[in-house]
Amino acid sequence: MSGNYHIVTYGCQMNVHESEKIAGILRRIGYEKETPIEEADIIVFNTCCIRENAENHAFGNIGALKKLKKQKPELLIAVGGCMTQEKGKTDVLKKKFPFIDIMFGALNLETLGDLILRKRAQKKKVIEIRETEGEIVETDDAYRTSYPNAWVNIMYGCNNFCSYCIVPYVRGRERSRKPEHILAEVKKLVAEGYREITLLGQNVNSYGTDRDTGMSFAELLDAVASIEGKFRVRFMTSHPKDFNEDVVRVMEKHRKICRLVHLPVQSGSNAVLQAMNRRYTREKYLAEIEMLKSRLPEAEVTTDIIVGFPGETEEDYLQTEDLVKTVDYASAFTFVYSPRQGTKAATMDNQIPEDVQKNRIMRLVELVNSLTRKKSEKYVGKTVEILCEDFDEKKGLYLGRDEFGRMGYFESEQNVVGEFVSLKITRANGISLFGEMVKG
Ligand code: SAH
Ligand code: SF4
Ligand code: F3S
Repeated sequence: MSGNYHIVTYGCQMNVHESEKIAGILRRIGYEKETPIEEADIIVFNTCCIRENAENHAFGNIGALKKLKKQKPELLIAVGGCMTQEKGKTDVLKKKFPFIDIMFGALNLETLGDLILRKRAQKKKVIEIRETEGEIVETDDAYRTSYPNAWVNIMYGCNNFCSYCIVPYVRGRERSRKPEHILAEVKKLVAEGYREITLLGQNVNSYGTDRDTGMSFAELLDAVASIEGKFRVRFMTSHPKDFNEDVVRVMEKHRKICRLVHLPVQSGSNAVLQAMNRRYTREKYLAEIEMLKSRLPEAEVTTDIIVGFPGETEEDYLQTEDLVKTVDYASAFTFVYSPRQGTKAATMDNQIPEDVQKNRIMRLVELVNSLTRKKSEKYVGKTVEILCEDFDEKKGLYLGRDEFGRMGYFESEQNVVGEFVSLKITRANGISLFGEMVKG
């Protein structure tokens, strides 16, 4: 059987990579081409439930398919990812969208192929959600669409139970992949021409503490960066409670490792950090940044911040602003706190009114943007190395990123996607840079 597929992805980098695994599964069972939704024979939603708006987004998009499914009853609709792992969520989905054919969980993504085959043989919908994490299933059939970048999981799950966060409930406990599997995958990707490898885990610094992998994260990073070839290495996410000097020493040793650390701080107030169960203080966080910059002065840091967490006072919020200025982040993802059912924070009785949350997020976004803009302006006149990722049809320009994740646009007569090019920056516009290619 052949056919077309369409995958809709929500959420984090981990989910983006899991959609590549879903594409691999679909291709293995005979689907051939990714097409727009209207031409697809199967549509898979890979959902996220980190905040309420991520769920609403998916609900809206799934609901919009009702008509298409009526016109095309043979169309298969599958929903998986983090949302279906939430307690009671499959019942909600069944009720709201009776036309969904298949539901699978983030913890049993690898079964999707069998579930589709089962659904084809029966009228009844197929629902299979694995409730607890099992052994890691090693497959290498991801169908990657992110060339020249490649995502590589080093571990799954999370043990941290930050009080606002649903991830540990939907992704299970930490499971580290074996170093030999990770290293073999990276070697293969580099041999295939991938030029940027990003190691993924909810808390990469605790790699190997759940089972005997024989390697810490720093050792694994060292081994990955020791693989021959011209490529960049990134890793995310580092948890400030575990980030350490060993990792920075490995960064010093290898120029291949980007001088950028994503170190989500969440809040600049110790009272809020404690209520969030983050298990570090503002002082420890700032000491880590200092340690990083003392060894690698050129290093940059990005972060995630939540405003409007239960009990956050104006004073607490101002401490976050102050910390943002002190660290001078390269960029920051900012979020309004969203209560998630089943988490500790959702039961706290000091929730913050929406207008206060909105006011804080607006001020914070403005601050972050002004810092990012200032950093962009400093680029003008400098020459940076860009890994060309794509061609922007609208702008008629190639684009790529420097090691700090800054997007640079430029003209080129030849197709340079997948190549490192030297770019002399002539202009900065917000977070984007524009430049001219110079001989590297
Ligand atoms: N493992 C990573 C984060 C994964 S989720 C870490 O520990 O940093 C990505 C980001 O979403 C988090 O850093 C946090 O800033 C945000 N987030 C998580 N739960 C949230 C919630 N309930 N409301 C708002 N933002 C949330
Ligand atoms: Fe969520 Fe905290 Fe785990 Fe990150 S470390 S995934 S924020 S529980
Ligand atoms: Fe990622 Fe969202 Fe799941 S952020 S781990 S896809 S809840």
